[in-house]
Amino acid sequence: MTDTQDATYSGPERVFSGIQPTGNLHLGNYLGALKKFVDLQEEGWDCVYCVVDLHAITQPQDVWGGPALIASHTRQIASAYLAAGIDPKKSIVYAQSAVPAHVELAWIFNCVARMGWVERMTQFKDKAGKDAERASVGLFTYPVLQAADILAYKATHVPVGEDQKQHLELSRDIADRFNRDYDAPGFFPLPEPLIKGPGARIMSLKDGTKKMSKSDPSDLSRINLVDDADLISKKIKKAKTDVLGDMPSDTEGLEGRPEVENLVGIYSAITGDSVEAVLKQYGGQGFGVFKPALADAMVAHLAPITARYREILADPAEIDRVLADGAARADAIAAPIMHEVRELVGFWRA
Ligand code: AMP
Ligand code: TRP
Repeated sequence: MTDTQDATYSGPERVFSGIQPTGNLHLGNYLGALKKFVDLQEEGWDCVYCVVDLHAITQPQDVWGGPALIASHTRQIASAYLAAGIDPKKSIVYAQSAVPAHVELAWIFNCVARMGWVERMTQFKDKAGKDAERASVGLFTYPVLQAADILAYKATHVPVGEDQKQHLELSRDIADRFNRDYDAPGFFPLPEPLIKGPGARIMSLKDGTKKMSKSDPSDLSRINLVDDADLISKKIKKAKTDVLGDMPSDTEGLEGRPEVENLVGIYSAITGDSVEAVLKQYGGQGFGVFKPALADAMVAHLAPITARYREILADPAEIDRVLADGAARADAIAAPIMHEVRELVGFWRA
């Protein structure tokens, strides 16, 4: 092991990300992740987008639906990828469990990552709750599998929401430690999170200090990707604001107003207008003006996606073709990398 690892990764750049096949996607998933996936594809990046079903089984059956539902949830997320604009000819779309490299590299990384690093992960503490002793070992080592997902493809850039920042830091630590431990400077890239933008942290419509989440018991707290126009308008109308008056006209005026900041951020993420521009346009006006405008923008953007989603979902054979083709292409990238990893680790080969 050396201390100086100046040699940095110099291979090709690649984008990797994944979403779990649990429950319905909401606006936070769309703006924090999916929309960015599409934007990166359109910018010409080499993109690999995974449905992370191995991650889904880290929590009990009632969370992810059990064996009867997991494959159908995988098809749902794959359909959402396609409906949002991911083109399976340009990007790779596949199910994690269909490519063996994830599990194999995760094991090797379990032996590279240190207990102390993984114990710091706040998502484990949140998900395990009070009774961490009863959580699965898989839930504990979940972020190590996530590092393996990314690095099995030597991915350099990872679009995710803000909540994944800590996991990405762990991925970088694991990549760096592997490179040092196996005396392979620059073998794995240190993957960079792509988190920027107003969509990175979408908050609950009922509480501007809590993130929008599929586990919130109130459906009014989130916009689901399958909500129709009426429901979206109703949820925006009922979204919490505050008693501090009309819309502010600059970003300073958003301080201490998390609900308003969230709605403005959503508008900005959806329309592509900067937060400043949105405030300039609506500053001084009441929510009776801004909220309908926000609902309209949301419906205009989401309705075609929802319609495509339903269409794609109605043809499971086509989704399965996309997933099978994606798995073969993903495996063709990961298999030679795993071959090198095995050599570096020193496993037997005839
Ligand atoms: P999950 O559904 O937890 O697998 O999340 C899938 C992706 O959506 C990840 O990149 C998350 O960071 C992102 N995400 C989830 N909730 C939010 C949110 N409220 N705001 C922004 N991004 C989110
Ligand atoms: N942990 C991510 C989430 O909860 C999902 C995920 C698994 C992921 N593997 C990944 C995201 C690799 C980015 C890259 O949202």
